[in-house]
Amino acid sequence: MTTHALHKTDKVVFRNEHPDLSHSREEILAGLQSTQKTVNPKWFYDEYGSQLFDQITRLPEYYPTRTEVAILTENREQISARCGRGCLFIEPGSGSSEKVRILLDTLQPSAYVPMDISAEFLQSAALELGGEYPWLDIYAVCADFNQGWSFLDDLPAGKRVVFYPGSTIGNLEPKLAAEFLIRVRDMMGENGGALVGVDTHKSSDRLNAAYNDSQGVTAEFNLNVLRRLNQVMDAEFEEDSFHHHAFYNTEARRIEMHLVSEREQSVRCNGGTVEFALGETLHTESSYKYTPQSFAALVEAAGLKLAQSWMDADALFSVHYLERA
Ligand code: AVJ
Repeated sequence: MTTHALHKTDKVVFRNEHPDLSHSREEILAGLQSTQKTVNPKWFYDEYGSQLFDQITRLPEYYPTRTEVAILTENREQISARCGRGCLFIEPGSGSSEKVRILLDTLQPSAYVPMDISAEFLQSAALELGGEYPWLDIYAVCADFNQGWSFLDDLPAGKRVVFYPGSTIGNLEPKLAAEFLIRVRDMMGENGGALVGVDTHKSSDRLNAAYNDSQGVTAEFNLNVLRRLNQVMDAEFEEDSFHHHAFYNTEARRIEMHLVSEREQSVRCNGGTVEFALGETLHTESSYKYTPQSFAALVEAAGLKLAQSWMDADALFSVHYLERA
């Protein structure tokens, strides 16, 4: 783990707090050994996976990104006023830092803190942003934001606002989402806030189409996780032995993405083997959908409240500003 001192003269500063690989291996192995095999969706996002996700956001079927962008664009004055000009704007899972651009001119944050687990992607995104916004202080942190926020102690004081767009919160089981929000609440202090994008519960047809695009980009994105497992776990998963399967589970109100084994197989992994029956799945992602009411209940369980909410006219997506209850 390398930690760089923060230099005040630098407009773009990097810090690498990426957890070590042995911890990751244990976590992955536990998932592969459970009854329903599972892998954390964070493993989608190496450089190639991040590029694929960028492509997904532009697919005709994938409404969330363009809808959220429209909500942020149309309401940027109100949203910036809520967050407070001059705040410290922190974005866990910042990816290409595309959406923050919508707010920067009106928000004028004292600093922007993008966090991502893909170091290469984070670095190039931060440098590009710094080039476009020469006045902006950027502290880019390569970290798994589920593992700790200690680096924040080194950042400038002031109101902290966590920017969590894209319905990334939907990846978490509701119980874990509540725990995440509790950590956000602690981190943002007494007068801080959080701006959270949340995909809404809607017709299964619409949702199923968004995760089964006609160009097969989502399938490729899903299968990329096998390449990651091969690298990280020294494994031999074969891409053509699995296929993409995504569906809306209406009871649980979540999209489930799986990789389905096309045959009975024994896959070398981490010095041992992982057995798959024909049709057995590796659960790669859940993407929970919320009504305004169900999201309000989640937020309240974390000691927060919805201070203000914005939606598009078709109620496809929602953006919420959270404060301490
Ligand atoms: C980045 C988690 C919000 O759940 O819609 C897109 C990821 N997976 N297509 C989502 C994703 C398949 C995305 N999130």
